[in-house]
Amino acid sequence: MKEKQIKFYITTPIYYVNDIPHIGHSYTTIVADIVARWKRLNNYDVFFLTGTDEHGIKIVDTAKDKALTPKELCDRMSLKFIETWKLFNISYTDFIRTTEYRHAIAVEKIMQSLFDNGLIFKKKYEGLYCIGCERFYAQKDLDENGYCYFHKTKPLLQSEENYFFKLSYFRNKLLNRITDSTHKEYMEIQPEERRNEIIGKLELGLEDVSFSRMAVKWGVPLPFDKTQTVYVWVDALINYATGVGYPENKYKLQKYWPADIHLMAKDILWFHCVILPAILLGVGLPLPKKIYSHGFFTLNGYKMSKSLGNIISPKELVDKYGVDASRYLIATVMPFGSDGNISWQELTLKYNTDLANNLGNLISRITKMAEKYFNLCIPNVDFDLKLTKNIATILKEGFIKNMDNMQLHKVAEILQSAITLVNRQIEIDTPWKLAKTDIDKLAICVYSYLQAVDIIAMYLLPFMPTISNKIWLIMGASGDINEIAKKYFADNIIHKRGFSKGGSRMQLSEILFPRINKL
Ligand code: MSP
Repeated sequence: MKEKQIKFYITTPIYYVNDIPHIGHSYTTIVADIVARWKRLNNYDVFFLTGTDEHGIKIVDTAKDKALTPKELCDRMSLKFIETWKLFNISYTDFIRTTEYRHAIAVEKIMQSLFDNGLIFKKKYEGLYCIGCERFYAQKDLDENGYCYFHKTKPLLQSEENYFFKLSYFRNKLLNRITDSTHKEYMEIQPEERRNEIIGKLELGLEDVSFSRMAVKWGVPLPFDKTQTVYVWVDALINYATGVGYPENKYKLQKYWPADIHLMAKDILWFHCVILPAILLGVGLPLPKKIYSHGFFTLNGYKMSKSLGNIISPKELVDKYGVDASRYLIATVMPFGSDGNISWQELTLKYNTDLANNLGNLISRITKMAEKYFNLCIPNVDFDLKLTKNIATILKEGFIKNMDNMQLHKVAEILQSAITLVNRQIEIDTPWKLAKTDIDKLAICVYSYLQAVDIIAMYLLPFMPTISNKIWLIMGASGDINEIAKKYFADNIIHKRGFSKGGSRMQLSEILFPRINKL
């Protein structure tokens, strides 16, 4: 009987189309992809949503600067994100655009429900608005010169009559869901210090927030007052519901809602931990299970963004390191949760150490040995279980412990230690000596290395979907690596399984990770 799959719903933020995709956006999306692939390999029914955020004043202004209509800008730029995700081999289930019809229906339905539930009221409002963040700030939230911390620009005074959401009404409920881990709808926020910041802010009190704009025409009109459009952040947050079928596809919604993980950087955590859950409480939808925020990729100490002119483009990265290596480097170069100042030197150093010198070297040593002593034919012997078992244990424990917590830099360390272990075993065995003295023992050694590398290749799949498959073929392993890995992760019987079968042929390959000499 087929085992029932558990659902797993993971999301990235939907990205603004005023900016071109850079490696900051790519970081979140690649991390989400690695986790989604890992979950699929562990037999979860994964729904992975990403997309673009296309309404609001920022988009209108950018379109005007480029002499385009907002729609033209959105079509062009959302395509750029789609192309970037294709470049990085991102396995999303759906790509949502907030200008789609299905999304307008969802936004209208939610706004109408909030209105019908007595949670929306009209009020005149005056405040400091940062267009970069698309939000109002109190003076105390700005730096000593009155500038926004994220955009280094001065928010402008805006005043208009808007529809407000009774956010204050949800303060206690939210605090309860965030702090009481025994609550059946407990909402976990990670990392811990960000969670504490959110709790601290909530404890100070919550003010009602404006949920509509009179002056912004580029948005979804309010169903109960067509002269105003829905505030872009509310519009954006609802994408997570639209993506899994809200409101019409009840089956899909029931299957995947709520999200198991909403992933994002710290700049937009408040919206996800406070505004989104309050909206959901207001319309009676369950709250997300986990909200996970990571730090910023910074260059010269500033968050990477086009307006600051400090971006590294995905294409530059892939041209230099290749697709799979870029995925690995981006996802593991800094500890998840903290900021990381990155540089080309640092990336290249990691590439050379982890990939060219450790993994790449291991593959090429084994292939050379197999070619020289066995003419690439896998020896038909029983292999030594010790090395394989060690590798399997290290990897299994490391992945289980760190993958769900998104500690991908730790997962990478574990992968590297498994690779190092095989490299070290080769040094201990001294196959070049065995070739002269004990060819049977050499056959057992080589066969053991192959089995160990096969297991490493399966664990590399979420990071390097193409190269793991290549390694699998080079090692002469048979069958579809994805399918075999799924079975392997499910029953975990290593010792009886030989992935590279005795008698099969290995393949010679080009150098998988050519060393980069110029840092
Ligand atoms: N449109 C909103 C999000 C709405 S979600 C309902 C938005 N868009 S954004 O284009 O500015 O993207 C912000 C997200 O992009 C961050 O939360 C993060 O996931 C990612 N990053 C953008 N620049 C980044 C870095 N320099 N470093 C790390 N992540 C970065 O906010």
